[in-house]
Amino acid sequence: MQNYLNNLKNQQLISDNLTLILNAIIKSGVEISTLLENAGIGNQNILGSAETENVQGETQKKLDVISNEIMQKNLLNLPCVAGIASEELDEPIINNNANLNGDSFFVLFDPLDGSSNIDINAPVGTIFSVLKNYKNNAKEISEQDFLQAGNQQVMAGYLMYSSSTQLVFTLQNPNFGVNAFTLNKKTGEFLINKANFQIPQDTKEFAINASNQRFWQPQIQEYFAELLQGTQGKRQKDFNMRWLAAMVADVHRVLSRGGVFLYPQDSKMQKKGLGGKLRLMYEANPMALLIKNAGGRAINGKENILDVTPEKLHQRIPVILGSKNEIDYIQEKFA
Ligand code: AHG
Ligand code: MN
Ligand code: MN
Repeated sequence: MQNYLNNLKNQQLISDNLTLILNAIIKSGVEISTLLENAGIGNQNILGSAETENVQGETQKKLDVISNEIMQKNLLNLPCVAGIASEELDEPIINNNANLNGDSFFVLFDPLDGSSNIDINAPVGTIFSVLKNYKNNAKEISEQDFLQAGNQQVMAGYLMYSSSTQLVFTLQNPNFGVNAFTLNKKTGEFLINKANFQIPQDTKEFAINASNQRFWQPQIQEYFAELLQGTQGKRQKDFNMRWLAAMVADVHRVLSRGGVFLYPQDSKMQKKGLGGKLRLMYEANPMALLIKNAGGRAINGKENILDVTPEKLHQRIPVILGSKNEIDYIQEKFA
C-alpha cells in the first residue's frame, strides 16, 4: 500500500495531505476490524446497544460510538484536517490543531455502516468522503463549508469488515479508477487485490429491502413488479435478489459483478420529514463517486446524486445505484 501510494504521489495523482488522511483512515480501519474480530471473545461488553440515540433518532450500538471515537481521534491528529463530520456526531468538529495555511480538508464518515449486522457476525464497514476546505481561519468555518455537492469530493471510499478486511477508494480524477486492497493480518499491510473495477452495464441482480414495498413510490412499485415477472414480463429476463443490510457490502458486490441497489424514498420516512433512509454526505455521495468512477451510475430518482446541492449535514436521500443501463432504465420512470 505504501509503495502504491508513493507511486501515486510521484505521478502527482495524490497529494501528501490526502495520503496522510488515507493513512489515518486505514489505521482506524485496522483498529475497528480488530475490535470487531475480538468482540465475541473476552470483550463482549462492546457488543449490543449503547442505549443512546444519534442526532437522527437511531439507537446507537456501542461499536457505532467506539468506531466514531477511533476515526475522530486519528483524523483530528492531522493538521491538514480542518474538520470532521459523522453520522454519529450531532455537529461537525472543527480541528483546533489544524494548519489552514496549506491545503486542508473536511472528512465526513459513517464510522460503522450496517451496524445491525454486528451482533450476527455479518459484514459491516466504514464509509468516508473527503472535501476541500476553502477557509484559512478556523473561526470562520461552519457547517455551511461542509455542504458541498458530491462531485466536489476529492477522495471517497470504504473499509469493509467481512471474511477479509478490504479498503476500496477512489479520487476525484475519474482516470484514477476504483481499486481494492486486502489487509494482510500478519503484516498489517494492505495489498492490492483488484485494480480498476468496471461495473458491467447490464445486470440480472437487484438489492432492495422488499419489506417496505407498500410504502414505496409508484415508479419503484412498477419497476419491482417488472423484476419479479422475469422472462414473463417486459424485461424478458429472470432476476436474482440479494440484500446484505449493509450498504458497504451491497455496493461492494455491485462494484465486483454489477447489479442495482435501491433504497428508495418511502411514505414512512416521508411522514417523519426525512428525504430517504440513507445519508447524503456519509453514505450516498462517497458511494456515488465510487460507482461513477467504476462506470456505473447513482441517482435519487430524477437526478445524479453527485449533482445534488446539500442543504444540511445529516440530510437523507433516496439512493438508486449500479449498472449503467439499469439505472438509465429506472431514471426514465421518473422523467
Ligand atoms: P447504518 O448502520 O450506518 O445506520 O446504515 C444502515 C443502512 C445501510 O447500510 C443499509 O443498506 C440499510 O441501512 C439497511 O436498512 P434495513 O435495515 O432497512 O435493511
Ligand atoms: Mn450506514
Ligand atoms: Mn453507521
